[in-house]
Formats: sequence, structure tokens, C-alpha cells
Amino acid sequence: MRKRIIAGNWKMNTTVTQAVELAQAVCDQYTRHQVDVVLCAPFTNLYAVYSVIKDTPIALGAQNLYWEEKGAFTGEVSAEMLKSVGCQFVIVGHSERRQYFGETDETVNRKVVKALAHHLTPIVCVGELLQERESGLTEQVVERQVRGAFVGVTKADAAKIVVAYEPVWAIGTGRVASPEQAQEVHQFIRSILISLYDKELAESIRIQYGGSMKADNAAELLRQPDIDGGLIGGASLQAVSFLGIINA
Ligand code: 13P
Repeated sequence: MRKRIIAGNWKMNTTVTQAVELAQAVCDQYTRHQVDVVLCAPFTNLYAVYSVIKDTPIALGAQNLYWEEKGAFTGEVSAEMLKSVGCQFVIVGHSERRQYFGETDETVNRKVVKALAHHLTPIVCVGELLQERESGLTEQVVERQVRGAFVGVTKADAAKIVVAYEPVWAIGTGRVASPEQAQEVHQFIRSILISLYDKELAESIRIQYGGSMKADNAAELLRQPDIDGGLIGGASLQAVSFLGIINA
């Protein structure tokens, strides 16, 4: 039985003060401890958020990392640095990073490998653009992204990865994938994991849905057999709406 995992991706939002307030409000209202909860704050707020959640079951995540250990890479942040501020998770390959910052399946893979080497759990994002869906390319795109992310990852390490299916057309648009549309792709992702590893491993990996998930559509999505949680953008910026999803 896979434990559900709900992660908030705050993206480029929150000052330190706002982040601390939001994390505190989430902690205060969080009672359903049978769900894993992760807060993915901006780099600048990670340590402050960690200070709020460190004695709670809520975990800290970053939104990106760089694959080198250290050195002259101005502006980048390493896995070790993320560990040092209390991160247990890191989002890798979010579609916004693929779209605006030139991330490719290869760089996503490098980041996944480096995160795992430092015992950070990667939340690997995959998902098709609207025009790819409309051209019938969803499976082809998602398969390429999943296979690309897992290159060189051993079975033991693969078991630690969380996959997030985020159809790009559903992100921040209010246009949520239907439970059937999402389930179809989640099941397809699991079938790729079976072909890469085996059924037992594939059945153990958690696959989150992301894209306009809200308190009022979460229950129906999370009822699907292959949807094991959510990666939440907009609705994670308010404790009430984020908790609404957790409680769903
Ligand atoms: P929204 O929930 O705002 O659509 O964003 C989803 C997302 O990109 C989470 O990573």
C-alpha cells in the first residue's frame, strides 16, 4: 500500500516572513498524519521553514538543485547545501524549468542521480504540452521523460523516487485533467516503470498528480488507483486550501 504524498510547490512566492507564517499555519492545522506532507519553499526560505517544521511530521523540499558537488557555479545550489538546511525532498525537472530554463531529460537525469547520492528524494516531474496532447503525443513525451530521468538509476534507488505527472496545460490554468485522463497517464507511467524495473518496484513508486489540483477536485483525483498524491502550486499558498487537499 503506497502512502499518499501531498507536496506544496510554492514556486517563486513568499518572503521569509510569509513563508514562516504559511508553514506555521500548515503545521497548526495538520492533523491527518497518515499522509506524507512536503513543503517545497524557495531557496531563500528553506532554513526558516525548516525551523518551523523540524519537530513535526512535515518534510521540507527544494524546487531545484545543481548536479555538481561544489565550486565555481555562480547562482547554483548543491544537494549537500540542501541537506544542510534540512531538505529531504527536491523537485526535479518541473515543466517551468524545462520551458524557461532549458532543462532537458539529460540534465534532469543528472540532478536525479545527484539528489539520490545525497539521500534527497527527487520528485521527478513529467508531463506533456497542450499541443503534444492534441497531437496524440502524450504517451510518447511522457515515456521519453520517464525513461530519461531514470537512466543509470539502480532498482534500490528507483524505489525512493517520487514521480509527478503534471500535464503542462493544467498548470496554473484552472483546467484540471479529468480523473480518467490523469489515471490513464499514471497507469501508463507505472507500466514504463514495470518495463524499466519490475512490477513490485513499479507498484511501490508513488505517482503524484499536479495541475490545478484544489480542495474541491482532489478527492476524485486521489480516488484513482494510480494517483498517489498531489503536487500543488497555487492552492498550496494558503494553509486552508492546502489542508483542504490533504484532508481530501
Ligand atoms: P498549480 O497547482 O498552480 O496548477 O501548479 C501545479 C504545479 O506546477 C505544481 O508543481
